[in-house]
Amino acid sequence: MSTVSAVRTRRTIKSFKPDPIPRELLEELLEAASFAPNHRMTEPWEILVVGPSTRALLNHKTNFGGAPVVLAILSKPAKTEVDRDEYYAAVSCFILNFMLAAWEKGIGTGWSSLGLSKRAQEVLGIQPGYEVVGLIPVGFPAEVPEPKPRTPIQTKIKELP
Ligand SMILES: Cc1cc2nc3c(=O)[nH]c(=O)nc-3n(C[C@H](O)[C@H](O)[C@H](O)COP(=O)(O)O)c2cc1C
Repeated sequence: MSTVSAVRTRRTIKSFKPDPIPRELLEELLEAASFAPNHRMTEPWEILVVGPSTRALLNHKTNFGGAPVVLAILSKPAKTEVDRDEYYAAVSCFILNFMLAAWEKGIGTGWSSLGLSKRAQEVLGIQPGYEVVGLIPVGFPAEVPEPKPRTPIQTKIKELP
């Protein structure tokens, strides 16, 4: 699959098959994701593999579509606001890399903002200064949604003199 094809065909998956994701493959995808751009090689991402009892406490409305794996992807504590923004941006790149690498292997992902809630952060045991950038369900898709149309990009482009 070409990069552009992965970018264009990836979808947010809402419903997963129960088939497990081999741990080795999961780590291979996370390792590929770690080639994300990151300023000064801070590699600001950390990954929690959310086990069944923690997951149950999260009480997600669809239980993450039945995904066999749920990851919490964290951005590490930063000393300044600029560092915080850069860390968050790098971690977002990491997540998208992971999603695209997974998609190429036929594995679907989603992105839940539930990790922004105080309660979810307590359940996950998030330490001060860390941010939960996304809760990411991972698994083989039971269903792949149609693409959501995008605004023509020309309307987003402005020329500067
Ligand atoms: C920062 C961020 C937070 C998101 N949070 C949620 C969420 O809480 N629940 C959800 O269903 N999708 C969430 N999404 C996924 C978007 O809804 C999805 O990417 C968008 O609808 C476009 O669909 P597509 O990814 O299939 O192209 C999130 C995406 C991003 C980047």
